[in-house]
Amino acid sequence: MDHFLYKNGHLHAEDVAVRDIAAEVGAPFYLYSTATLTRHFRLFDEALDGMDHLVCFAMKSNSNQAIIKLLADLGAGMDVVSGGEYLRAKAAGVPGDRIVFSGVGKTRAEMQLALEGGIRQFNVESEPEMLVLSEVATSLGSTAPVTVRVNPDVDAKTHEKIATGKSENKFGIPISRAREVYAEAAALPGIDVIGIDVHIGSQLTQLEPFELAFTKVAELTQELRADGHDIRRLDLGGGLGIPYERSNEAPPLPIEFGQLVKRTVGHLGCEIEIEPGRLISGNAGIMVSEVIYVKSGEDREFLIIDAAMNDLIRPAMYSAYHDIIPVEEPKPGIEPARYDIVGPVCESGDTFAKQRIMPPVGPGDLIAFRSAGAYGAVMSSEYNSRPLIPEVLVHGDQFAVIRPRPTFDEMINRDTIPQWL
Ligand code: LLP
Repeated sequence: MDHFLYKNGHLHAEDVAVRDIAAEVGAPFYLYSTATLTRHFRLFDEALDGMDHLVCFAMKSNSNQAIIKLLADLGAGMDVVSGGEYLRAKAAGVPGDRIVFSGVGKTRAEMQLALEGGIRQFNVESEPEMLVLSEVATSLGSTAPVTVRVNPDVDAKTHEKIATGKSENKFGIPISRAREVYAEAAALPGIDVIGIDVHIGSQLTQLEPFELAFTKVAELTQELRADGHDIRRLDLGGGLGIPYERSNEAPPLPIEFGQLVKRTVGHLGCEIEIEPGRLISGNAGIMVSEVIYVKSGEDREFLIIDAAMNDLIRPAMYSAYHDIIPVEEPKPGIEPARYDIVGPVCESGDTFAKQRIMPPVGPGDLIAFRSAGAYGAVMSSEYNSRPLIPEVLVHGDQFAVIRPRPTFDEMINRDTIPQWL
């Protein structure tokens, strides 16, 4: 459930009419709902009730300062994958002991940043990374709390570009080599091995792959404890999928995920961390765009809109489906139209949907892309010199621009022309 509903014939975000925001901010823009973000965070938090746990929001899905602060104020930790995300979390007021550092390619500079600023743990993904972390921590006279990300060789049954838990993927250490790697890590100065990390992929729509992975992690916990390691924290990653196509998708709920966690690893007495991104932010955001033209092709109608692949790249990159609805509620019984929905960018990949059946719209009408709160704004670019679109947050009957649209000058003046030209 989210808080983007028609009221009195107009799409609302909570209690604010989307068209009123468009009139003030101008299309296109991203729009997020505080109530939905809050609800989704709480669903996870409550699903792990009764276990010592921390829900760390995967900031890669949405890293706006306002969103981070909102979630951190609810008690969330943060999962970061770069120095930039780490600093964003700190800037939004998240204490270091609630920040987890993930990612396969952490640099020395990033490790130093986190060790100096405070960190809950590093999720280490390889032996070379472990050696470097040991060196950096030792040189700073500190100790790095570490979990090792294991690759359980489980098929997440998701899009190939976002599956991470198969042995052919670049992530983690093969679970078969885990005991060896833990033994090496335990002998290194500046490293405190505290637990195990696993993340098998994103947009998972079944629980079975999680079950396989968590069961392997539970077995490994016992083995590592028998080897003398004090395994006290399990980071179980993110990945729970959301219904992009509402009419025919019903992925498992956080409560079911929570029950699975309790069933598979609950008996171990470990502190549990999870790193959800999409399920918290995805359906808490929409992207609003205006129709520029309706163009008749030989055998189809093109809806040419003012948002493009640079603003929301998921359809172009993963052939992802987003529900697209008119901002003005269609009259009952109206005959639907069929469109190819495209942006103004000069390549055919700039297509949001082909032969989409939806209520008819015309130039000047606003449409909304649902499920755009995760991996939307964060993956946008200025391709075709299109300034990044603004982000807006609604809270009840109020709204605020949480990232303004840059002016053309701001965009252009970031470049500098060398003096020899
Ligand atoms: N933890 C780790 C280590 C991850 O790599 C990811 C996502 C997450 C947590 C959060 O996963 P989530 O709960 O959001 O599924 N750009 C793609 C998604 C890439 C996900 C990468 N890793 C998309 O638009 O679908």
